[in-house]
Amino acid sequence: MSFQSIITPEIRARLSRPAGEGGTCLPNACYIDPEWLELENERLFARTWMYAGCLDQVPEPGDVFPTTIAGKPIVLVHGRDGEVRAFHNVCRHRGAVLVEKPCNNLSQLTCPYHAWAYGLDGKLRTRPHFHGADKYDLSKEGPGLAAVRISLWFRSIFINLDGIAEPLEDYIAPLAKRIPHHDLGALRLYKTVTWEFRANWKLVFENYFDNHHIATIHPRLNAFYPMRERSAFVPDGNFLRTEYMVGEPQEGRGLGLPYHPGLTPEQARFSGGYHLFPSCCYQLWPDQLTIFQVFPVAPDHTVEQLHIFMVGDAATDPAYAQPAQSVADMWDELNREDIGAVEWMQTGRRSPAFDGGVLSGFWDRPHQHFANLVVEAMS
Ligand code: FES
Ligand SMILES: [Fe+2]
Repeated sequence: MSFQSIITPEIRARLSRPAGEGGTCLPNACYIDPEWLELENERLFARTWMYAGCLDQVPEPGDVFPTTIAGKPIVLVHGRDGEVRAFHNVCRHRGAVLVEKPCNNLSQLTCPYHAWAYGLDGKLRTRPHFHGADKYDLSKEGPGLAAVRISLWFRSIFINLDGIAEPLEDYIAPLAKRIPHHDLGALRLYKTVTWEFRANWKLVFENYFDNHHIATIHPRLNAFYPMRERSAFVPDGNFLRTEYMVGEPQEGRGLGLPYHPGLTPEQARFSGGYHLFPSCCYQLWPDQLTIFQVFPVAPDHTVEQLHIFMVGDAATDPAYAQPAQSVADMWDELNREDIGAVEWMQTGRRSPAFDGGVLSGFWDRPHQHFANLVVEAMS
C-alpha cells in the first residue's frame, strides 16, 4: 500500500485532533504492512541521524564492527590513522557482504568471496585474479567502499545515510541541553543485552514512553518510583523526555556503582528518559546510561538491544561485577515484562476493531506526537 492510501486525509484529521478529544495514533497498516516498513527505511531512517554504535565497539585502530541501519548493512571501521569511519558493508564487485562479525587488529577489509581488498580508509587495494588467474590488479583505480556520513557525540557514533541531515550537534541539542552536568565521555560499555520479539519497532518506543503501564506490569519499578508520582513524557520537537528525582538507591538502580563524576548531591538523584526520534532512547541514571536501539526485521519482527554503560572502571573492574550484573538483570527483568505488552499490541493491530486507539489526554500525548513525527518525516 502506498503512503497516500494509508495516511488518508481522514487519518491526518484524526492525528491532528488532540489526544483525549478524539485524536488517535497511527493506523494498523503502519505496523503490519511490509511496504510501509520499506518506506520507513527510505524516508525515516535514511534521512536523519541514527545511533550506530559506540567507541567501545571499535576502541582501537584495526577494529571493525558490522551493524544494520535502515535495513542496510553498514560497517564501522577504526582506521590506522585513528579516524573512525562508516561504510556500506558491501563489496563493489559482486555485492557480497564484507564483514559479518566484529574483528580486531585488521589492516584491511578482504571480501570473503573473491578477495578484493580495501584499506581501512575504504580505498580499493587489490583485486586478485580480476583479469585472469594470477593477474593481480594493483591499479587501485577500481571503486572503493561507499562512505556513509558519520559523527560522534561523546562516545556515541551516529550515521546519516542520505548525507544531508542537519549537523549532529543540532539533532542532539535538545538532549544535550537537558543533561549538561553529565560527562558521557566518562562512560564505558559494560554489556549489550539483546531481545527478539514479534512486534513492530515503533511499539518498542511507544511502550518506552508510556508511563501509564508501570503500575500494571512493572511491580518492582512501580515500588521504586510509583506511577502516581509520574507524569507523561513531554514532547519537544524530535525529542521526548521524562525526568524525575530518584529515591533511595536499590539493586540495579544506583547501588554499589560509582556515579557520574562531578554531580552535586541534587544532580546525583536525577534520572532522565529520552527518545531521540526515530533512532534510539537514552535512559540516564546516577550510575549508568542505557541506550535502546531497535533493528526492524519485518513489520512484526524486531530485534532490540540495550547497551548498558557505566562510569569508568565500573564497566570492567571485577570489583564491580556483582552490582554491575544486578543492573543487567534489572533491565532484563524489566524488558521481559515489556515484551508481552508490545506483542499484545502487535496482535491487536490485526483487528478491524482497532485502528489508532482511544487516547488518554493525560498519558498518551507523547504517543500521538510520535505518530505525527512519523507522518511528517515520511510525507
Ligand atoms: S564479491 Fe567481493 S570480491 Fe567478488
Ligand atoms: Fe515498560
